[in-house]
Amino acid sequence: MHTQVFVDDPVKIGQNFAGKHIISIRQFDPQSLEILFHKTSTIKRCLQNGEQGEALAGKVITLLFFEPSSRTFSSFSAAIKRLGGQTIEYQNPMQTSSAIKGETLEDTVRVFEGYSDGIVMRHFEEGAPARAAKALSRIPIMNAGDGSGEHPTQALLDMFTLYEKFGRLDHLKGVIAGDLLYGRTVHSLLKGLSFYPGNTFYLLSPKELRLPRELFEEYTKARVTLVEIEKETDIPTDCQVWYWTRVQKERLADPSTYEVLKNRFIVTKKLLKEKGNADMIIMHPLPRVGEIDPAIDTDPRAYYLTHEVPNGMYVRMALLSLVFGK
Ligand code: NCD
Repeated sequence: MHTQVFVDDPVKIGQNFAGKHIISIRQFDPQSLEILFHKTSTIKRCLQNGEQGEALAGKVITLLFFEPSSRTFSSFSAAIKRLGGQTIEYQNPMQTSSAIKGETLEDTVRVFEGYSDGIVMRHFEEGAPARAAKALSRIPIMNAGDGSGEHPTQALLDMFTLYEKFGRLDHLKGVIAGDLLYGRTVHSLLKGLSFYPGNTFYLLSPKELRLPRELFEEYTKARVTLVEIEKETDIPTDCQVWYWTRVQKERLADPSTYEVLKNRFIVTKKLLKEKGNADMIIMHPLPRVGEIDPAIDTDPRAYYLTHEVPNGMYVRMALLSLVFGK
């Protein structure tokens, strides 16, 4: 099973988010990201001051998750409720819904179009949200992760986290490690960072889990410099970010290779001492399954739990209010 480049070209956001499907990070550009991040900062400040939003008052959004999820599902649910909206929450429809009886994805989403004002969908098949979008005529859909394709809202929260820390999304240097073949968060993040000049990323993975060639070419043709490395000793010491990911066990063509491929590269105190620096941050989309030693968690540079998790809710609130709000 190999990932494919997202072939359809969904509508660009530009300056207007209202009513648009959010399928891919490719729909964004520096201008739309500036609008989104400005809104995110405002929402974050308001919530921290105890103010409640109401951009989704009177709206019902369906969360339709065909694959396991903790953070993405819960942060979307919290974001919708904090904006005054309500949710229909459907996890594991393959076990409990008409999908088990053979209902098509198109029919399933058309049904929820009859009940709600929008759909947030996670699916194990790459391209499923794009396919669902074609079947919808009245309401927008947001991609919350499709197979090993994309995870646009994770990229948005990762980029917002970088933007908050460094005040820019250009001229950054980083390492992205782990499963770059199947890791959808990496696919979306690298594409998003390729919108900006001067970024250089070192891609640290086992040979078997290298970034798909077509994505490598697409991103480098854009504005990002990518350097593939296979050893921790090749990590430069002046990175702003280390972005670690788990091996996507459930997507391996041969699951028996998991034991061989997992945890080749682990963030430890020792590695940080040898290759890190004082101003960098450590990121991970989570869940981690051994790639970051928990002893690192109390290090102020560890951003995965303290910054990325809350930012996920703020960014999703901003996106939801721009897409669904009045
Ligand atoms: C990621 C995902 O589902 O792609 N998790 C998440 O949404 N934060 C990463 C993963 O599962 O490894």
